[in-house]
Amino acid sequence: MKQSPLTLLGISGSLRKGSYNTHLLELCQKHAPKDCVIEITTLHEIPLYNQDLEKDMPPSVQDFKTKILAADGILIATPEYNYSIPGVLKNAIDWASRPYGESAWKKKPVAIMGTSPSVLGTARCQYHLRQTFITLNMIPMNLPELMIGEVHKYCDSEGNLSDEAIKQRVMQFLQAFIDWVKQH
Ligand SMILES: Cc1cc2nc3c(=O)[nH]c(=O)nc-3n(C[C@H](O)[C@H](O)[C@H](O)COP(=O)(O)O)c2cc1C
Repeated sequence: MKQSPLTLLGISGSLRKGSYNTHLLELCQKHAPKDCVIEITTLHEIPLYNQDLEKDMPPSVQDFKTKILAADGILIATPEYNYSIPGVLKNAIDWASRPYGESAWKKKPVAIMGTSPSVLGTARCQYHLRQTFITLNMIPMNLPELMIGEVHKYCDSEGNLSDEAIKQRVMQFLQAFIDWVKQH
C-alpha cells in the first residue's frame, strides 16, 4: 500500500471561467486531507489533436503527460456536453494516450465527478468516459459515483458549492478515491 503523501492530478473538463466543475475540484483541493495533495490543471493550452505532431509533441502536451505520469491518481471533474464528453476533455485524453505504446494513462487510478444544472448531473458523460478507460487501461473507481444535478440550487452567487450536505458528499467521495489510490 502506498504511503502518504499522495498526489492527485485534478483535470477540469470545462474551460469556462466560473465553471461549476472547476469549483468542484477547488473544493476538493481546499479540503483535502493532510496526506493528499491535489494539483489542478486546466486544458486551455492543449491544441487540437493532430497525428502529424506526434513526433514532436507540443510542449503543453508534454507538460500535461508529465503531470499525469507524476500523479498517483487522476481526479476528473467534467460537465456533460450533448449527452457526452466535452470535446476539450476527449481531445486531451487522446493526446496523452499517444504516441502508440507511450500512453500516460496506463494503470492510473481514476475517478470522475461531475455537476450540471440539469437533473442527471453528467451521468451520460461519465459512462462514456468509463468506456474510454477500458482501452486506456486505467483503474477506475466504480463506486461511489458523484453526479450532482441541479447544481445551481446548491451554490452561492459565485457558483461555489455552499450546501453543507453536498459538500459532505464531495468529501466522502474524495476520501473513497484516496483509499482506492492507496490500494493501487
Ligand atoms: C455545448 C453544450 C452542451 C451541453 N449539453 C449538456 C448535456 O448534455 N447535459 C447537461 O446536463 N448539460 C449540458 N449542458 C449544460 C452544462 O451542464 C452547463 O453549461 C454547465 O454549467 C457546464 O459546466 P461548467 O459550469 O463546469 O462549465 C451543455 C452546455 C453546452 C455549452
